[in-house]
Amino acid sequence: MKIITVVGARPQFVKAAVISRVLRSYVGVHEVFVHTGQHYDHNMSDLFFSELDIPHPDYNLGIGSGSHSQQTGLMIQAIGELLEKESPDFVLIYGDTNSTLAGALAASKLHIPVAHVEAGLRSFNRSMPEELNRVVADHVSDLLFAPTQTAVINLKREGLEPNTRLTGDVMFDSVLFYRKRILEDKEKYTISGLPEHYLLATIHRAGNTDDPLKLHAILKAFEGTGQKIVWPLHPRTRKMLQERENIPGNVMISEPVGYLEMLSLVMGSDKVLTDSGGLQKEAYFLGKQCITIREETEWVETLHDNWNVVAGTNPEQIIRATALPHPSAPAKDTFGDGHAAEKILSFLIR
Ligand code: UD1
Repeated sequence: MKIITVVGARPQFVKAAVISRVLRSYVGVHEVFVHTGQHYDHNMSDLFFSELDIPHPDYNLGIGSGSHSQQTGLMIQAIGELLEKESPDFVLIYGDTNSTLAGALAASKLHIPVAHVEAGLRSFNRSMPEELNRVVADHVSDLLFAPTQTAVINLKREGLEPNTRLTGDVMFDSVLFYRKRILEDKEKYTISGLPEHYLLATIHRAGNTDDPLKLHAILKAFEGTGQKIVWPLHPRTRKMLQERENIPGNVMISEPVGYLEMLSLVMGSDKVLTDSGGLQKEAYFLGKQCITIREETEWVETLHDNWNVVAGTNPEQIIRATALPHPSAPAKDTFGDGHAAEKILSFLIR
């Protein structure tokens, strides 16, 4: 069986690494790894490949940044051409980025079966580019690998139940695997100069970074917490901040960090403040309360007992959320058993 994996952005490298490890250990499967080039800076791309032992991409399409239509259009064209050349049995796509959408459309137009890892997520907010990408990708895919029961229900509601398989979350598999590595070699992955107590922040959603009022409100909130905040900056966020904002004195900014450093930062933090989907879960898996700087979350399983608090971008609400007591109840085990990747492989083979 020849499988083409299409990825392009940071969180997809993490998810694909887990599945690639399993695929490559199975003799009957040949994986061809395609990087669209959506993320291209060293810290956004190569660093993940080396840290996560992902094979060097067989193809790097080098598409880079651009408007949504330009980026997606160029990807569809380039992926389509290589699919005709390679003629795989399956195309594997991940998550909800423009690379996901492009892989889904290019393959389905050529009648090549598509399998979507992390299918069925819904924010029900169509102003997010990711929501459009997910919905379209799910509806043209032949196999939908749902990470949670909520995702299964969402897919059922849209008439997609026959193609749906509940597998658990590959990001949970990943955290279990790498947490152990970090604990075994703490020094290697600990970033020096960190305060003893800090909140870890990440902000990269277009809805937050590209709206000057929201970005300003987020900075006001960070300042108002009065706590030390460690904030690795996505390149776009850095650009937007440079254009119009001063960084408050309690906030330490840095370049984007690799996956293992990020997990280590979560493990050392008091709480996490983020608009990332992946980090909401990583905080949950690692036992840290998360304050989500968005109006909604797809990961509703994380909301129980205030493990995740959806605070929006209102400074008072964010500050109030950071002052909430940390949950002491255990986080529920609703993201699978740590073997999602093996389940995905066995469904593909079947
Ligand atoms: C993309 C995904 C988002 C995911 C995120 C993970 C879409 C629509 N969004 O958002 O779902 O959560 O990846 O990080 O696909 N840039 C650089 N260097 C890079 C990459 C980006 O400077 O290596 C800058 C460019 O100015 C670019 C901007 O960041 O225009 C945005 O990058 P883009 O690929 O459009 O999406 P992300 O915001 O990273």
